[in-house]
Amino acid sequence: MITISWHVIDGLNLQDQVSIWGDFSEWGTAIQSLCFLNIRHLTLFSIHHLETPHSIAAEQLKMKAYMYDNVPGDQRLPHDSGREVTASDLATIGVLYRRLAETSEVDVLAAERGYKNRDEIVVSPEKMGDVYEDKVKMFFNEHLHEDEEIRYIRGGQGYFDVRNKGDEWVRIQLEKDDLIILPAGIFHRFTTDESNYVHAMRLFKDEPKWTPLNRAPELDGNDIRKEYVGQYLS
Ligand code: LAC
Ligand code: NI
Repeated sequence: MITISWHVIDGLNLQDQVSIWGDFSEWGTAIQSLCFLNIRHLTLFSIHHLETPHSIAAEQLKMKAYMYDNVPGDQRLPHDSGREVTASDLATIGVLYRRLAETSEVDVLAAERGYKNRDEIVVSPEKMGDVYEDKVKMFFNEHLHEDEEIRYIRGGQGYFDVRNKGDEWVRIQLEKDDLIILPAGIFHRFTTDESNYVHAMRLFKDEPKWTPLNRAPELDGNDIRKEYVGQYLS
């Protein structure tokens, strides 16, 4: 999001000040400010590129996350306890959520974080056949990775569950145009929902390294896990 504001200065008096909120990302971040000068008025026209409270609020409206209810039953059911979790709450445990409507925005994010490669995966019985049920159960085993995990949903829906500071499950519902970044070392799991269909883009740096390390007491001694705990849970 970019804020545009301009100030019309007549002599030394500030005459006017207007701000416009909007998405001007296609203008690029190189444009930081422009000045226009005419005979009587000095108009300062400035563009600030920033994460505005406005854009965070808009993202929160679109994102749905809540405490998992821990009620026994199919993992694909919503399991919504009714206790809401916000995007800011997720940020405190290092989980970043973005709503990106344009693939070009994903290109920018990938370049910024050094992600050179990507692939796409469809998780559905039609695509996977008999192994679908096993795969879905496997994705739902609690695990961590030694790299961050980025998923950009292109269609269908899915749930990522992540452990919060109190080691409780937070469920994040993702649909088309949602992008999630899970930090290295966070315990998480994934499942499709009742529609049994999700199409996701996976970003990776070099060779895909999806090695899941399933939760076990030995992982307390893992360097990446220790780093995550030190940065976000302590
Ligand atoms: C993954 C998801 C299942 O590691 O977390 O691909
Ligand atoms: Ni994972």
